Amino acid sequence: MQQNNGRIGVGMVGYSFMGRAHSNAYRQVTRFFDVASAPRMAAVCGRDEGATARAADALGWDSHETDYRRLVERDDVDLVDVVTPGYTHREIVLAALDAGKHVLCEKPLANTLEEAREMAAAAGDAGTVNMVCFNYRRAPAVQLAKTLVDEGRLGEIRHWRAAYLQDFIMDPSFPLIWRLQREKAGSGALGDIGAHIVDLAHFLVGPIAEVSGMTETFVKERPLEDGTGTGEVTVDDAAAFLARFEGGAIGTFEASRFAAGRRNRNSFEINGSRGSVAFDLERMNELEVYFADDPEDVQGFRTVNVTEPGHPYAGAWWPPGHILGYEHTFVHTIKDLLDGIKTGRSPAPTFEDGYRCQAVLDAVERSAASREWVAPENGGI
Ligand SMILES: NC(=O)c1ccc[n+]([C@@H]2O[C@H](COP(=O)([O-])OP(=O)(O)OC[C@H]3O[C@@H](n4cnc5c(N)ncnc54)[C@H](O)[C@@H]3O)[C@@H](O)[C@H]2O)c1
Repeated sequence: MQQNNGRIGVGMVGYSFMGRAHSNAYRQVTRFFDVASAPRMAAVCGRDEGATARAADALGWDSHETDYRRLVERDDVDLVDVVTPGYTHREIVLAALDAGKHVLCEKPLANTLEEAREMAAAAGDAGTVNMVCFNYRRAPAVQLAKTLVDEGRLGEIRHWRAAYLQDFIMDPSFPLIWRLQREKAGSGALGDIGAHIVDLAHFLVGPIAEVSGMTETFVKERPLEDGTGTGEVTVDDAAAFLARFEGGAIGTFEASRFAAGRRNRNSFEINGSRGSVAFDLERMNELEVYFADDPEDVQGFRTVNVTEPGHPYAGAWWPPGHILGYEHTFVHTIKDLLDGIKTGRSPAPTFEDGYRCQAVLDAVERSAASREWVAPENGGI
């Protein structure tokens, strides 16, 4: 078996959408950033021998495995990266932690709050580095919003208003993929894309104290993927909720896969006592900024192109104005993870952050069922 020569050996489970995004990040990270330890793409794991071998070749992995249990036991794997559907996260993550590995897990951390609590506790006990891939935190414009909030330049935060909108399942003949099955995905739009805006809210505004939510499934039956008939959709197509933050702000959240024409509109606005910021992933290099104490004659939102050398992460890439894309958020995530492994500190969002996100998703579902305000479970890890 090839040795890592001081590099961090990575073993990745899954190789499709997120598998491509993560593989690209491991390939790119040292070409643009100084990282404490470079990664070695030791092995990718899938269930089908031929398809996994082809994926290893296409994505740049040195070898492949067809059983994640073998992958996590390999001496040349230091970090296990989990990019499979939610129903597999718990068992793969627990096996990796048990084998003493660092773990990066795709979001949402788990399919249920109970699983998330168990995984966060196991990560704490393992003492290795853990992280959840809420990659949007690491868009430079989102980082700039965070800086403005933390420096008090928006004043006291009063409003959070977020909508993560997609439209890819609007056609009723779209098949019943794993994302539409509760036992595989945990929930629908709520856990898939709503989880991202909950994480961003936690990052930018702070902990959520209580929620009042609703969910809806518009298309209740869909064709099975193998063409043998139809099956029931067991997750939400859309979710919306109100929230109160512990810090006093109020928030609205909307997650939908039925927002016609909105392909991947992950957007938020924050209004404080001294100003506002607004972000939309489909224009992800820009942050709209408003300062209430600007001179009256030039007051208004300005659009900052967040590509200057001094902006977070941006300086490592191209000259100002040479914009970044979706994939860069994963490179930034991997950079911070590799640095964290070198220093022994888990970079946020950690599994504990993933658990807190899951607690909000769980509270929204309980609120939608009971039609009452519900407080997310808090602590217990
Ligand atoms: N961070 C983000 O922005 C983002 C975006 C999309 C998906 N995700 C998350 O990434 C994860 C994977 O989603 P995806 O879009 O890549 O899914 P996908 O359907 O494109 O790929 C899933 C992969 O997992 C493999 N797989 C499925 N079941 C498996 C099993 N039992 N054992 C081993 N491998 C198995 C499949 O072969 C495939 O390679 C999910 O948790 C999802 O929520 C995150």
